[in-house]
Amino acid sequence: MKNTLFGKNIITVETLSKKDLNLIFKKTDQMRELVKKKGRDERLKGKILAALFYEPSSRTFSSFIAAMQRLGGGFIPLNDMSKTSEAKGETLEDTVRVFSAYANVLVIRHPKEGSLDVAVRYAKVPVINAGDGIGEHPTQAILDLYTLREHFGKFDNLHIAFLGDLRHYRPVNSLAKLMTLYPKVKMSFVSPAEVSLQSKVKKYLKKKNIVFEELVRLDKIISNIDVLYVTRVKKEYMSQELYKKVKGKYVIDGKEAKKMKKQSIIMHPLPRVGEITEEVDSDARAVYLGEQLKSGLYVRMALLDLILRK
Ligand code: NCD
Repeated sequence: MKNTLFGKNIITVETLSKKDLNLIFKKTDQMRELVKKKGRDERLKGKILAALFYEPSSRTFSSFIAAMQRLGGGFIPLNDMSKTSEAKGETLEDTVRVFSAYANVLVIRHPKEGSLDVAVRYAKVPVINAGDGIGEHPTQAILDLYTLREHFGKFDNLHIAFLGDLRHYRPVNSLAKLMTLYPKVKMSFVSPAEVSLQSKVKKYLKKKNIVFEELVRLDKIISNIDVLYVTRVKKEYMSQELYKKVKGKYVIDGKEAKKMKKQSIIMHPLPRVGEITEEVDSDARAVYLGEQLKSGLYVRMALLDLILRK
């Protein structure tokens, strides 16, 4: 298989093809085996990653660092841009230029949508989007899709329901767009009207002739869906007033989970703040603290290997 990702940026899922995904999935399978059998190797020896995070992160940040280290690469120890020249007023453009001189790949999270397009213009090395405001979160979507593939084998006829604050939740934008590569999927977007799916994402789905619906209530479909993708209300992206209106609207507890099919799964990119209760964690269909979480490391190992090695 030709490595179509070598030297590439990953800013939006819109640039990824089915072929790219098959390549990533195959590589991810190998990474999973590698971690299981040997824990690590040295294939990225001499390469350095710079993670520039302008917003808090647990999983994305740590799994990228762990991925780099498991492949023998190094990283610049930074986890908070407020400790860098950012605090002195340095622009993203300059920061990106500077870190391009030290590292072989940049992983950037930024509160402003579209800021990654700016970063790419000034970077001299490949850039990976780790979340840009209410824009995209491509690597989360790839690991979510990998989790679905692991679980269901195929995507044909899968019915996935996205639940919660869909207006501000970048993993939903990326996953919904990515799933258009598999046109037999069905998507339902369940949210309060005030935080429904962004219209530009809807436009994208329509352009790709995807079957989807928008709902305010989950009860009509909960017993039919294969995947329930739960999201957090992104409090930091909205006014107090809006937050009061939409918080706590949907809570998946044991009683709700019982209504779902035996073969279905419950996903959440995390962090959660009450939208899935702890009693659901032990349900075999809950993959958010298991399969979905682990896929993050393997997928990011695969991406770094593909981007950094011919
Ligand atoms: C998400 C994010 O930052 O977009 N987290 C993640 O990367 N798994 C979701 C969130 O902010 O709640």
